[in-house]
Amino acid sequence: MSPASTQSACRTCGSPRLRLGLDLGLLPLANSFLPPQRAVDPTPEPRYPLRVFYCENCGLIQLRDIVDMREMYDDYAFLTATATTSLIHFDQYAEDMTRRLSLKSADLVVDIGSNDGTLLKAFRRRGTTVLGVEPARNLANQAMAEGVPTLNEYFGPDTVERIGPHGARLITANNVVSHVQDLNGFMESVSNTLASEGIFAFEVPWVVDVLRHYNFDIIYHEHLSYFGFKPLSDLLGRHDLELIDLQHFPLIHGGSFRGLAAHPRTFPRQSDTITRVFQDEKTGADFATLNEFAYRVHDIRRRLLELLQDLKKKGKKIVGYGAPAKATILLNYCSIDRSILDFVTDTTPLKQGRFVPGVRIPIVDPDELRKAKPDYALLLAWNFKDEILKKEQEYLRSGGQFIIPFPEPSILGQNSR
Ligand code: TMP
Ligand code: ZN
Repeated sequence: MSPASTQSACRTCGSPRLRLGLDLGLLPLANSFLPPQRAVDPTPEPRYPLRVFYCENCGLIQLRDIVDMREMYDDYAFLTATATTSLIHFDQYAEDMTRRLSLKSADLVVDIGSNDGTLLKAFRRRGTTVLGVEPARNLANQAMAEGVPTLNEYFGPDTVERIGPHGARLITANNVVSHVQDLNGFMESVSNTLASEGIFAFEVPWVVDVLRHYNFDIIYHEHLSYFGFKPLSDLLGRHDLELIDLQHFPLIHGGSFRGLAAHPRTFPRQSDTITRVFQDEKTGADFATLNEFAYRVHDIRRRLLELLQDLKKKGKKIVGYGAPAKATILLNYCSIDRSILDFVTDTTPLKQGRFVPGVRIPIVDPDELRKAKPDYALLLAWNFKDEILKKEQEYLRSGGQFIIPFPEPSILGQNSR
């Protein structure tokens, strides 16, 4: 299938000088987990090109092929509140920002892409006024049912009007900016909503971490941009916003940064930190690095498939652990289907009973892992490795092993540690 559109110029700076760095071929939409009746329909699910380009003008690494947003976001199966690691991260986030801005009860915190309201609940516990903006209907309804006021819409000029210009003391957007097609329009709306002494805090996986750990499975159609902070800082600057601080979280999604921005000259700027990050991006996210990444991605595919096929030949029972969107990309790109994995476990009730798109592997309750006692579990939710290994001590003790896909396929078990 062809995408809804293919953009001809860079999403942020408008340059037409986009250079192809990696082609993952045609892949299904990562979050479109199939209901059972769809999984037996012989008509294949739609697949779209997944090609990664480098902007030779501003350095932003990005997709050009755009899939219709309604197809991706109307009904969304990702929940923030499914991992303890995320709950702790967001609670500390709320604590840090509440202190930094000395937030009071009348101060408004707006969370863009508020999902199930996890972050806003953490702010509400600290007494501030909160408002979520969430386009997925199922998630907005869930958050509202749990008492988190939520606008069911895409953040944009209408939202600014509803909130009132410069009405938000804090705007947060976590793992959202990477999904935005019209980045200039988005930042303009952020700038117009942000109070004159407010902060815009956003988290994105850092492109340097993605490339150095070869995490190609976080490349999917929803993630239109793979950010470095140099291109982001240029973008903010065009909309009366300035990057003031950066904080690295190496364990969140394989390596994320929280960027803080504000209207110019309202907060001190942590220039040393920002300069260091820009410097790392010069050598860690240039075209040559993207090229090397492409080479390693092909290599990981070959080695992972060989490892799994070898274990199958030896009669081993293998399942998948976790059904994040990433799993759809990893499994389809590496052609790991039901002949290799009996099932994939996931804690999210919304995903259980559905199937991974493309490879059509069933997603089941994690209890099935304990019942089936597989020899190996391919760790698809690798970003929660520590949390999962801690939780699965029993599986490990009984001889079960994990296959970790990155930075290179490896086996982890009680005897292999
Ligand atoms: P994410 O990597 O996109 O945040 O999604 C993680 C997925 O992994 C989510 O669907 C929940 C699932 N998961 C488990 O099944 N078991 C676990 O122990 C954890 C931490 C996550
Ligand atoms: Zn550009």
